Amino acid sequence: AEDGYQLWLRYSPLPAGLRERLQARVATIVQLGADSPTLRAARQELQRGLGGLAGRTPAPAVAPRAGSVVLARAADLPPSPAREAQLRSLGQEGYLVQRTRLHGVEVTLIAANTDIGLLYGSFAWLRALQAGAADSLAAINAPALASRPALPRRLLDHWDNLDRSIERGYAGQSIWNWWELPDILDPRYTDYARANASLGINGAVLNNVNAKAEVLSAPFIAKAAALAAVLRPYGIRVYLSVRWSTPLELHETRNADPLDPAVAAWWQRKADEIYRAIPDFGGFLVKANSEGQPGPQDYGRSHADGANMLARALAPHGGIVMWRAFVYSPPARPGQMADRAAQAYEQFKRLDGRFERNVIVQVKNGPIDFQPREPVHPLFGAMPDTALMMEFQVTKEYLGFATHLAYLGPLFEEALRFDTRAGGVGTSVADVLAGAQAGHVGGIAGVANIGSSRNWTGADFDQANWYAFGRLAWDPKLGSAAIAGEWAAQTWSADPRVRDAVVALMMRSREAVVDYMTPLGLHHLMGTGHHHGPAPWVDDLERPDWNPTYYHRAARDGIGFDRSASGSNAAAQYAPEIARRLQDPATTPPELLLWFHHLPWDYRMPSGRTLWEELVAHYDRGVAEAAAMQAQWARIRPLVDPRRGADVAQRLARQHAEAQWWRDACVAYFQQVSGLPLPPGAVPPA
Ligand code: GCU
Repeated sequence: AEDGYQLWLRYSPLPAGLRERLQARVATIVQLGADSPTLRAARQELQRGLGGLAGRTPAPAVAPRAGSVVLARAADLPPSPAREAQLRSLGQEGYLVQRTRLHGVEVTLIAANTDIGLLYGSFAWLRALQAGAADSLAAINAPALASRPALPRRLLDHWDNLDRSIERGYAGQSIWNWWELPDILDPRYTDYARANASLGINGAVLNNVNAKAEVLSAPFIAKAAALAAVLRPYGIRVYLSVRWSTPLELHETRNADPLDPAVAAWWQRKADEIYRAIPDFGGFLVKANSEGQPGPQDYGRSHADGANMLARALAPHGGIVMWRAFVYSPPARPGQMADRAAQAYEQFKRLDGRFERNVIVQVKNGPIDFQPREPVHPLFGAMPDTALMMEFQVTKEYLGFATHLAYLGPLFEEALRFDTRAGGVGTSVADVLAGAQAGHVGGIAGVANIGSSRNWTGADFDQANWYAFGRLAWDPKLGSAAIAGEWAAQTWSADPRVRDAVVALMMRSREAVVDYMTPLGLHHLMGTGHHHGPAPWVDDLERPDWNPTYYHRAARDGIGFDRSASGSNAAAQYAPEIARRLQDPATTPPELLLWFHHLPWDYRMPSGRTLWEELVAHYDRGVAEAAAMQAQWARIRPLVDPRRGADVAQRLARQHAEAQWWRDACVAYFQQVSGLPLPPGAVPPA
């Protein structure tokens, strides 16, 4: 039965007409030049993929003939000025796939400057072949693929603990079997590597940002080295999250002060030890002085002092430090305003230009915490002299776990395309990551949604979020609808009836979640321990900045967090043009209205409705959308396999019930604080 294990690498046979045409094009696979583990992986994938799609596995051969697929590094190809120029423009990871004459015969050529480029090109061609109909035909007859990644660092961050539990993971235990490593290697590691390489993901942080000192002990370094050896042929480097106080906790230093030479020397020795085991080790990810984690501020030092000390230990080996900007502390006195959304900027902006070259500051998507919708983080564009990394959350901590269907492509796209107006000119977040401001090139990271669940992500549709993250990491300018189309064709069916219906379902899903959870810029209304389900009334947590009431500020007089000049003034952290618009509710995008403003319940919305009416209308729309998604799936379901069809249906039913729960709970609570009746036409509670 269909179990979802294959992800999007299914390679189901093409329809009959296309299959025969493909067979004629893939008689043999020829590789020019020396062999390598990466080229072996590319050949194996082509054999597996073409074998599935064409119904006949191409045989390996040494000399090209008509109908060969040829894998060749630039250096191993016969001279051709045009091709050489094109290849030069494709960099260290790019690829070229074309139909061409080579040594006098017509072949399909996959060419690149490097071995990993050849693997990426192989996957790109297989993806194109699975696209469906006319696109598949073009990929057979006249492939013309050429691409290079926009960002050099494209990472998955696993929040996986060493006991195999996963922080905010909803797909079972960690795939890293720390108990059995390093000697026992689950074949799943290789399939993980294939899936990532098919997208171009080139790094994996193996462990949780809330890290344990133990991960840097010799046994765990050996375990990480074993994983690195499996991932290496697929172009994936391993990284580790490290706990700031590691040397202190291992009783090997007397403190963890970054300016203490003994501490720096310890990290230097540790880095040397890691690189002896993992010569291409990527580097460290650090969560410091954040949510109770230790950090350099414990010693009166800055984030830059801490990051730079680690960076100097890694620099001789070519490693990097990804230092997270996710920092906030509670208000010093009760009742005092300490806007969590403003704090990262306050702490990091002034450190711009003070980081070593091999430090990347990793900034979360959203100044609070991965909510269904947040404005873009104000640090993007505000640190021209620092390399920045975007941290997306692929696991759906705040979007219904693996139960709710929410395709995150549109969420990622919205953030990457946002024009920061840095320096007063058009500079999207994607441009900022690529170093458009002053050449400091960063990257992109996604908090993984992967676990040991048979289908990897818990819900089949959550595979799409891994996929979309990876595709956007390679090319942040891709459109989320096009990505959904690729994914659906490969994962469900290239039959347009299925593919297009799946895409339509996906494309409405994220906005539905925003509507039934946190419309109009509301945020952080969820149950505060588990983060599943509504709890806007919670007001008594040990830290006031964890209370939902702190964020929505609903009362008799109105609702919303005032981040304009009359409030926390976090709006002023954006570029002047943007800040000006955000200061005024009339020019604030309605979908972020209550993020930036506290407004009376009878505030007039552009629609002519009052704010209260509009709010309830959004909640109602969210529930209606969840119902419509169920109905849409009921039409698709007969066209897909029964196992996945039933699983999606169950989850959508639960999603609809939970959308209703969110809506009823939030509307009832806001009614209670506002004293307002349900607007006419609103749906009564279930
Ligand atoms: C969120 C999440 C935590 C996580 C933290 C982080 O607050 O709920 O589980 O540790 O983000 O990103 O560090």
